Amino acid sequence: MKKKILSLTMALVLGLSLTACGDTSDEPSSGGDPSAKKESSQVANKDKPLVWFNRQPSNSSTGELDMTALNYNKDTYYVGFDANQGAELQGTMVKNYIEKNIDKIDRDGDGVIGYVLAIGDIGHNDSIARTRGVRKALGTGVEKDGDINSDPIGTNVDGKASAVQDGTLEVGGKKYVVRELASQEMKNSAGATWDAATAGNAIGTWSSSFGKQIDVVVSNNDGMGMSMFNAWSKDQKVPTFGYDANNDAVAAIAEGYGGTISQHADVQAYLTLRVLRNALDGVDIDTGIGTADEAGNVLTDEVYTYKEDERSYYALNVAVTADNYKDFTDSTKVYEPVSSQLDKSSHASKKVWLNIYNASDNFLSSTYQPLLQNYDDLLNLEVDYIGGDGQTESNITNRLGNPGQYDAFAINMVKTDNAASYTALLNQ
Ligand code: BGC
Repeated sequence: MKKKILSLTMALVLGLSLTACGDTSDEPSSGGDPSAKKESSQVANKDKPLVWFNRQPSNSSTGELDMTALNYNKDTYYVGFDANQGAELQGTMVKNYIEKNIDKIDRDGDGVIGYVLAIGDIGHNDSIARTRGVRKALGTGVEKDGDINSDPIGTNVDGKASAVQDGTLEVGGKKYVVRELASQEMKNSAGATWDAATAGNAIGTWSSSFGKQIDVVVSNNDGMGMSMFNAWSKDQKVPTFGYDANNDAVAAIAEGYGGTISQHADVQAYLTLRVLRNALDGVDIDTGIGTADEAGNVLTDEVYTYKEDERSYYALNVAVTADNYKDFTDSTKVYEPVSSQLDKSSHASKKVWLNIYNASDNFLSSTYQPLLQNYDDLLNLEVDYIGGDGQTESNITNRLGNPGQYDAFAINMVKTDNAASYTALLNQ
């Protein structure tokens, strides 16, 4: 019944005003009390601001962007980071470490520098880019369809796998072979990808097969990297490299973790909520991003890029190693240039539905969400955080039963192909 009345009013209102988004007339009559229970606005769900984050709508086999999802409505954006720039940094970081520590890196002294690689999700652009970045820097990549093959190889102790090749490194006049001894997608039996526990088990298997042939451990992220470090490489003093600059990984650099990459989650979390705030305020999307807002919040192009044709904001990455890790010890601290509170009188409280695809994902739960929680106050957004199981989209979409209660949506898909599972709910 309530729904019927609502859609009737909605139809009327839509007829009168299609730009109700930035309109404050939809504020609860209780003087802006955000907890007041009412359908949030006269804007149709399909016209409300929507941001995809962390998992870019794209084809998980080809990587091609899903432009239908990215252009869902005029207030739709993606926020992530520059996967290729970060991947290149990760590869270079590993290579630099090997060169700098060449005297002690080859543990069995056979002239072959062996590494193992933990892969997050073979259908995720970030994961694919990181695998390619490492293979490219170490010379182990082989071309497939015009790019470096990012397939897992299983094991390759004899160097004969076809998806990789042996690389060569020349340091101090001496030539070394670099070999990817093993790589695997870390997916658990229930289907969750980037699975840290699976990586912890894999290093057990790999180390018992290859022992001292493993000189370096590389991972597509810190969650898996730290699991391998704690299970094996810390004791063995084998340098382990990850990605994300989670607090525990940065702290572990003091104990021999080789390094990580900061994907500037502080900038991404800000952008995730800022694009919604701007759309809700009906102001230029660049406000508080490339153009200072009235509180002085602004970002420089050293920390992000915006690609209009992809409707996507990308934060830039920074390598975190023994040289600079002390500057990165708190990954949940807001980025200072965008840390000023917005005034409630001109940026009234709004309700946002936001999901994290997997509540046990180390990066999203220990770094990204705490950052979002810091920014939501500064931006006067009342955010409902929904944690998924990392396995099925329905586990999350089941909890988007009443989109009418929200002013905007922030979505982190389980699988990058599945944008329509969410937009279908907003179209109803
Ligand atoms: C992060 C990973 C995370 C994944 C989840 C990546 O960008 O680096 O740590 O598991 O996103 O989608």
